[in-house]
Amino acid sequence: MTQGIDAFLDFLKAERARGVTHVALDDEARAALRALHKKLRQPAPVRGRSAAAASPPAPVQAPAQAAAPAPAPADEIPAPDPGTGDNAERIARLRAQAEQWQPARRLGTLRDTLVFSTGDPAARLVLIGEAPGYEEEKRGEPFTGPAGRKLDDILKAMGLERGGVYITNIVKNRPAMPRQATNNRKPTPEEMAVWLPFVRAELDVLRPACIVALGVTAAEGLLGTGKGIGAMRGCWHEFNGIPVRATYHPSYLLRSQGRLEPKRQLWEDMLAVMERLDMPVSEKQRGYFLPRGS
Ligand code: URA
Repeated sequence: MTQGIDAFLDFLKAERARGVTHVALDDEARAALRALHKKLRQPAPVRGRSAAAASPPAPVQAPAQAAAPAPAPADEIPAPDPGTGDNAERIARLRAQAEQWQPARRLGTLRDTLVFSTGDPAARLVLIGEAPGYEEEKRGEPFTGPAGRKLDDILKAMGLERGGVYITNIVKNRPAMPRQATNNRKPTPEEMAVWLPFVRAELDVLRPACIVALGVTAAEGLLGTGKGIGAMRGCWHEFNGIPVRATYHPSYLLRSQGRLEPKRQLWEDMLAVMERLDMPVSEKQRGYFLPRGS
């Protein structure tokens, strides 16, 4: 498979060097590329140095030992201990434990860099995404790429900023892929299960007034339903006694080419969040993203 890809890439590079900007693909070639794309999106069980070398900039987590044991089911995974002190101290302790989190290392499908959380450890609003991507891994902070900029816009429309909320992810390393460059993939259920004890511990420390699950992966990881986001958004759920609003991931808005409907639906979820937080909501805010004339 790798030889075939290399030959194909060499061919494309040679064509580009000749000044060719387009190549025609017949149905068979298109089907082969689709199959290849699908295969490359599967999580790669990566092994030590050679996998890390193929995936700049950050190495993939090497298994803790040569013959790593299979990951424990979620209920056998030990709980992290935030200890005592104020929220900032307790979150800092969780972050330090996350750096050494062996259940995630043992999986061998996640990259090495930890991207823990950002924002105010005493915030009343917690936003949870799926996993860091290329940009987040580079910066060590959740939601700093294009989806992060969209999230900043949403927070601004609510009258908030990222320093005044707490932002984290269901999975705290970037999911690894073969030949990974800037491409990202969704975390698997196993990857979510190994990090869930940390998400639970973070929420236990903050005990926020409400949680927003951004996208179906975060909603699935937190609430464990198999429903799509369309069915989960628009109403309240609960996690350990804390109200949860599931809504679209900001990257869905980026992909929806300016369409008003998903923007409005996400915004209606955020209006509900503002009300839950007893935030003032102006008439102008209530009217955002409504079709003209309504
Ligand atoms: N998408 C996420 O879900 N989380 C991030 O941190 C970045 C993009």
